[in-house]
Amino acid sequence: MKTRSSYRIISLCVAAIVVALVTAGIGAVELSGRRSITGKTRPTLKVSRVSVAQAKSSTKAKKPTKYVAITFDDGPSNYTPRILSILKKKGAKATFFTLGSQVKSHSSTARRIVNEGNQIALHSYNHRDFTKLSAAKIRADVNRTRAIVKRTTGVDSNYFRPPYGAQNRKVTKTLKAMHMRKILWDKDTRDWARPGASKIIARATKKVKNGDIILMHDGGGNRNQTVRALPTVIDRLHAQGFELVTVQELYKLGLR
Ligand code: NI
Repeated sequence: MKTRSSYRIISLCVAAIVVALVTAGIGAVELSGRRSITGKTRPTLKVSRVSVAQAKSSTKAKKPTKYVAITFDDGPSNYTPRILSILKKKGAKATFFTLGSQVKSHSSTARRIVNEGNQIALHSYNHRDFTKLSAAKIRADVNRTRAIVKRTTGVDSNYFRPPYGAQNRKVTKTLKAMHMRKILWDKDTRDWARPGASKIIARATKKVKNGDIILMHDGGGNRNQTVRALPTVIDRLHAQGFELVTVQELYKLGLR
């Protein structure tokens, strides 16, 4: 009897160990599986949450989404409503680096930018070269632009693009002290020079990388070519697997 009961205890122990090992094994497989889905392609925790959510909501096996931000400078203008309608129709979002003077003269368009889920950001009051201004004048200009955008749209923006992209140590330091996020670009379409819609399309869509910022213009002159190019720009970026988001969203995704 003694040997039989101790045999039973030993076999129970062995069974318990086997069960524990198998359970741990399954757990490890599940865990490593999850890691390989998100860890390979996604650099941050925030992004992996997004991709998991998208994977759950989508029934099709899709490639991981890449993100790009189209930005429009020097508006709002009479071209902006056409641009907004294209964005809305194509399911894309953009960021508008607006001039304070233009927000004043096109206030309902400025509100439409925001109401349709786009980002409104700052590009100075009337496009003066900041490298030629004193720090005090830079501060006054940024504050004036920020105030009119806030008064008009309710958005208090701290995203700023210097006019002409012109900057020096003084400009950088002054903007930093004001807690402004200085935003430049990765892809310049040079659409303001009116090179033709096909050139604008090519420059906006070639060799685009995840997290890139594309520069276009909705103000400052005739923007018919920009408007004509935009639907194809969006279609091609979508076909390349990009989702068109705002600059703010690129930050939230950890891509800037
Ligand atoms: Ni500009």
